Amino acid sequence: MSWKSRKSALPPDNTHGGRQLARTLSWPHLIALGVGAIVGTGILTLIGVGADKAGPSLLLSFAIAGLICMCAALAYAEMATMIPAAGSAYTYSYVVVGELFAWVVGWSLILEYSLVVSAVAVGWSGYAAPLFHDWLGVPVSLMQGPELGGLVNMPAIAITLVVAGLLILGTRESATLNATLVVVKLVALVVFVTMAMPAFETANFTPFMPFGFAKSVSPDGVERGVMAAAAIIFFAFYGFDAIATAAEETKNPGRDLSIGILGSMALCVLIYIAVAAAAIGALSYHAFSNSPEPLALILRELNHPWAARYLAISAVIALPTVILAFFYGQSRIFFVMARDGLLPQSLAHVSARGSPTRVTIFTAAIVSVLAGLIPLNELAALANAGTLVAFAAVAFCMLVMRRRAPDAPRRFRSPFPWLVGPGAMLGCAYLFYSLPQTTQIYFFCAQLLGLVIYFAFGNRCSIAAQAASMGSI
Ligand code: ALA
Repeated sequence: MSWKSRKSALPPDNTHGGRQLARTLSWPHLIALGVGAIVGTGILTLIGVGADKAGPSLLLSFAIAGLICMCAALAYAEMATMIPAAGSAYTYSYVVVGELFAWVVGWSLILEYSLVVSAVAVGWSGYAAPLFHDWLGVPVSLMQGPELGGLVNMPAIAITLVVAGLLILGTRESATLNATLVVVKLVALVVFVTMAMPAFETANFTPFMPFGFAKSVSPDGVERGVMAAAAIIFFAFYGFDAIATAAEETKNPGRDLSIGILGSMALCVLIYIAVAAAAIGALSYHAFSNSPEPLALILRELNHPWAARYLAISAVIALPTVILAFFYGQSRIFFVMARDGLLPQSLAHVSARGSPTRVTIFTAAIVSVLAGLIPLNELAALANAGTLVAFAAVAFCMLVMRRRAPDAPRRFRSPFPWLVGPGAMLGCAYLFYSLPQTTQIYFFCAQLLGLVIYFAFGNRCSIAAQAASMGSI
């Protein structure tokens, strides 16, 4: 049985069948990739869902989710510089714990990245649909999924396919375009805060915690509370893990990954607290909760229609950076799992430009169908479930390695690891518990399906299993 096999920390060398990704990235690319992945639908759209669940105490939800992500980011940075190979949490789990554990984590990452791509595509469509309707006369029924009364969300499908095309053109080109669009997104948020702050009313913060702290079911059947909001708004914070998946493609992993992960995370925490405080202070949360474009709505209510339009256009131009980063992560996880023999190896083929083309096309087919049919909050909640498992696994791996190899070289060492590691693990567990119950059930069903695939295919075809049976491990 290979389920306990562990793999070597080193990526295979360049000579094995052309399956090595090109080393083209350094830390400015990674910060851009990080901010590009982190700032997106979470702050632009899910802030409304969060406000509905927590009221003004959404600020507290942001702080809690940000703190847990900060702990996870420290663990990620340590593991990414210790094991600078593509695959992030999946690869760390394979090296540190073993194949079955790694499969569960890898499957969770596949779930996370696919659903984030789909969720952000739907969020993008939320801002784009009014523009397409006004300017091109596109019928609303073709821009909403069935649960919202439409037929299919065509803009969401279209944007996933466009981004897939960019990735197939090559990492370097895509990352450079990404950096330009990140600036557009940040300027839009600065404009929002600048326009909303003068309308700040402390009265909008009372009562501060209308639905309590822990998750509880409201009379309308919706799960609310500070933690229920934190479990959703958690979506807004992750993305730095997409940087770690690029480890094999960075020029100087030790320096580039630490600066990339921690720098982009710290920047985003600051931006979010500012945007959330400005939004809640400017307008009663009832007015924008559950809006498909809450920040634009707030600006319109404050009588800044041009600023609202500017923000919507910026979101439409820049949200694809998030899709790009997660698409990138998704195709790399598939690539690494296929290279390890846990998924069909034909997927691991790398094109002459250094991109895993087949896996990108395969991923695009799946995520565009999801984006066309499923609503944003459900996609985001399930994406969060997968991410929480991956984050907890990384923190666990960090602690195991601190015990097993305390003196092994690490280019980055997390401060207070025995606080940070358990903090990330317990925080992720509490956030998982705070997710909607239906999400938890879907997640466990998806994991069961994953285990069936593992025992039917991966367990028998894995490279580690074959090497073990030949006695070479
Ligand atoms: N953090 C990313 C977003 O908010 C996933 O869109």
